[in-house]
Amino acid sequence: MKNVKKAIIPAAGLGTRFLPATKAMPKEMLPIVDKPTIQYIVEEAIESGIEDIIIVTGKGKRAIEDHFDKNFELEDNLIHKEKYDLLEKVNATSNVEIHFIRQKEPKGLGHAVWCARKFIGDEPFAVLLGDDIVRADKPCLRQLMDQYEETLSSVIGVQKVKDEETHRYGIIDPLQQNGRRYQVNTFVEKPERGSAPSNLAIMGRYVLNPEIFLFLDKQEKGAGGEVQLTDAIQKLNEIQRVFAFDFEGKRYDVGEKLGFVMTTLELALERENLRDNILGYMRELVGDSMVKS
Ligand code: G1P
Repeated sequence: MKNVKKAIIPAAGLGTRFLPATKAMPKEMLPIVDKPTIQYIVEEAIESGIEDIIIVTGKGKRAIEDHFDKNFELEDNLIHKEKYDLLEKVNATSNVEIHFIRQKEPKGLGHAVWCARKFIGDEPFAVLLGDDIVRADKPCLRQLMDQYEETLSSVIGVQKVKDEETHRYGIIDPLQQNGRRYQVNTFVEKPERGSAPSNLAIMGRYVLNPEIFLFLDKQEKGAGGEVQLTDAIQKLNEIQRVFAFDFEGKRYDVGEKLGFVMTTLELALERENLRDNILGYMRELVGDSMVKS
C-alpha cells in the first residue's frame, strides 16, 4: 500500500473578495492575528504526516515563496538578539519540503490540481484549500488519511452547512452512512439554490487516488465556466468508490470577509496577552452589557 505523503495546496486564485488588499499581496498571505492563512494550512499538513507539499501559485504570488524560504539575515538577527521564541515561529514549517509550480492561466481548481500531476506521479495524495482553516484535536487531513488507510479509497472531507448556503459549495448526495463515513451517489459542484441533494458540503480537504488525473486530463469546464475538481471526483466515483467523511473539528471560512474577521477575533481572544484589551475595547465600542468577560 502506498501511503499519502504528498499534498497539493492550490493558491493561484485572484482573491477578488479582498480587494484592494489583494491587489499587490496574495490573499493567502493575509494574516489571522500574526500568521498568514496559508501557514495554518501548511502546519495542518505537517501535523498530519505530509512530507512534501507543492503550492500551485500564479501571477503576483511571489510573497508566498519568500514566506516559506529560509531567511538567513532574519534568523541571524533573532539569534543575535536572543529572540528564540520568534526564531521558533519563523522556522515552524522548516521540517517539510515545499515546492512551487505556476498555474499559467486561471482555469479553475481542477486545472490547478492538474498542474501538479507530474509532482504527484502514481501515488495517492492530499489537497488542502486555503479558504478553510480547520482546528481539531486530530488534524482534519489526518482524519481523512486514516480513512484512506482503512479503505484505500479516495476520501473527501465534508461538514453540514445551512440549507441557504449549499449553493456556495460542492455538495454530496449520500447513499449510505457508516458512522461519520458516507458512500456517495453523486458529487455536485455548487447546485442551484433549493436543488441541493443534501447539506453535506465539501470543505477543502481531499485525499485522492492518482486516477483522478485521468479525468482532470480531459479538462471539461463546469460550474462558473471553470474546470472543477468536484466534477472529476464524480467521474472517479463512477469507476472506483469515493467516500465522504464528516470530519471532527471547527471549520473557519477565511475566504470571505465576515468569516475572516470572526476568525481573527476568535483566535486573538485566545491569546492571553490580547484578550483583556480586546474585551475592554469591545465594551467601549458596544457597551458593557453586550460583552461578557
Ligand atoms: C471550492 C470547491 C467546492 C468546495 C469549496 C470549499 O469552491 O470547488 O467544492 O465546497 O471550495 O471551500 P470555491 O470556494 O473555491 O469556489
